[in-house]
Amino acid sequence: MSRRGSSATAMAITMSPSTTWLLVLGPLLLLVLLVPTNGLANCPNGCECDDETLKVNCGVGTLDVLPIALNPSIQRLVIKNNKLKTIDSSMQFYSQLTFLDLSYNDMVTIPERSFAYHAKLQELHLNHNKIGQVSNKTFTGLTTITVLNLRGNLIAELEYRTFSPMVKLVELNLGQNRISHIDPHAFDGLINLSMLYLDDNTLTTVPSQLTFQALPGLAELYLGTNSFMTIPGGAFQDLSALTRLDLRGAGLHNISADALKGLEGIRYLDLSDNRLQAVPSAALQHLGRLEQLSLGQNDFEVIATGAFVGLRELRRLEITGAHRLRRVESGAFADNTNLEHLNLSANKQLNELLANTVGGFPHLSTVILKENQLSTLSESLFPWSDLQTLDLSENPFVCDCQLMWLRNLLISRNGSSQYAPVICAYPANLHELPLTQLAEPLLGCTHGGGNKQAIIGIMVVGCAALITTLALVIYTCRRRIREMLKGHSALGRKEREYQKTFSDEEYMTRPPPGCGGVHPASGYPCPSSYNSSQYLGSRPIPVTEL
Ligand SMILES: *[C@@H]1O[C@H](CO)[C@@H](O)[C@H](O)[C@H]1NC(C)=O
Ligand SMILES: *[C@@H]1O[C@H](CO)[C@@H](O)[C@H](O)[C@H]1NC(C)=O
Ligand SMILES: *[C@@H]1O[C@H](CO)[C@@H](O)[C@H](O)[C@H]1NC(C)=O
Ligand SMILES: *[C@@H]1O[C@H](CO)[C@@H](O)[C@H](O)[C@H]1NC(C)=O
Ligand SMILES: *[C@@H]1O[C@H](CO)[C@@H](O)[C@H](O)[C@H]1NC(C)=O
Repeated sequence: MSRRGSSATAMAITMSPSTTWLLVLGPLLLLVLLVPTNGLANCPNGCECDDETLKVNCGVGTLDVLPIALNPSIQRLVIKNNKLKTIDSSMQFYSQLTFLDLSYNDMVTIPERSFAYHAKLQELHLNHNKIGQVSNKTFTGLTTITVLNLRGNLIAELEYRTFSPMVKLVELNLGQNRISHIDPHAFDGLINLSMLYLDDNTLTTVPSQLTFQALPGLAELYLGTNSFMTIPGGAFQDLSALTRLDLRGAGLHNISADALKGLEGIRYLDLSDNRLQAVPSAALQHLGRLEQLSLGQNDFEVIATGAFVGLRELRRLEITGAHRLRRVESGAFADNTNLEHLNLSANKQLNELLANTVGGFPHLSTVILKENQLSTLSESLFPWSDLQTLDLSENPFVCDCQLMWLRNLLISRNGSSQYAPVICAYPANLHELPLTQLAEPLLGCTHGGGNKQAIIGIMVVGCAALITTLALVIYTCRRRIREMLKGHSALGRKEREYQKTFSDEEYMTRPPPGCGGVHPASGYPCPSSYNSSQYLGSRPIPVTEL
């Protein structure tokens, strides 16, 4: 540390080939004369300067110019969260830097050729400043740089060959700027670029095919939070090394069948938070290696049968916050037999999740169906009992016999924190009760399955209809019925009267027909075997009958 001043002077002298040395030397000499000889003051207030490791790290502070008299051999310089306004010529002294972080300052411009002597610099962080412009002379000299971070600035345009000197650049972050125009040759020379962030800008069209032709090694491309509306056919077809494409919040209304042409190696695709009216099945079906797909926060109402046809390697599927989604048709995931993680949460209108007709999901371990509008769930939808994580919370479930299987499953998994509780919404008497706490009879399964319940329902309705019809018929025919009833009762009375012509006494005393009781004058003799006196002897024959 004590050598700080003299070494700075020596450095300034060795720098003399630079045309700007005269400009620099004046203030520098002044500084050397002013600072105390112990050199400790050369490390600015709030900074840590380590001559061993050659690192300078300045904490949050109010530095508004680059410190001029740091050890010129430093390799790592961090001045974050200060008030730097620009990169002045003193930057030239620190030509041994491999890492430079000037993020979160107030820089408005970076003068041309600011890094002309930084042939060892590998990482440059200029993010979160107010830089409005970069040109093809801004980064001259940065031939070894691998990471350039310009995120969170005010850059509006990327000019012709802006990044051309950086042949080793691997990561370029231009997110959160105001870029609305990209020269088709802006990225020329970036043959090793692997990650490119252009998200959160004001692009209205996907950069031209020519732009991407310069990037044969590009693996990750972030284009979200722009307003593209649509993707031209073959826009990405030269990005044959691409594995991740992020189009989250890119204002897409549709994705035509050839929009994703050429992305055969892609494994992660984010299309969430767009305005897609339908699942872009035709565009997706060629992405045979796709492993993760995010499609939430779009405008489609249905996920149709075979929506993800061709995606045999799909492991993770997220469709969350799709506010218009109502129905997932049966067989929607039929082709996705390698599915491991399915997140269909916060789709506030989703109330139909139809059973899969085809195939199982042998690898499925996580199913999140939280915050939907589901009132019931089919047992045949997924291999529920094989899951490690299941979240069905915040759905208006109707706790009836159809959910008996779920109750039993959840009870069998009691103690597993990976299984969120299922709370009943209906019927009213079970409102807010956890499904697992309901005794079997409460679910009304005494007559077996749901089909039987339906049959019983139909029977009840049928009976009611029958009774009503009968009542109506009776009412309309009431007079005739009354008459009929009257007739019947008259006849009955007559019969009764007829039978009464003989008194009980008479019946008891009457002899068998043709005997005794018959007037002798009638000429019919009684059979000889009959002893009439036996009949007549016990009681006197009434005078009237003799
Ligand atoms: C920088 O861009 C200008 C046009 O904007 C061009 O004329 C010039 O040749 C470019 N310089 C380099 C080094 O590419
Ligand atoms: C690009 O990267 C590869 C592997 O990381 C490396 O072998 C190659 O030398 C690099 N090319 C340039 C021009 O730096
Ligand atoms: C896609 O959306 C854009 C913008 O809304 C529209 O102009 C275009 O006609 C649509 N294309 C298809 C195939 O629907
Ligand atoms: C499912 O998606 C929601 C919404 O995007 C998210 O908050 C949640 O963490 C996801 N759950 C899992 C287990 O990935
Ligand atoms: C689940 O387990 C807890 C203790 O781990 C127990 O208190 C609770 O009664 C159990 N619930 C059911 C429905 O078995």
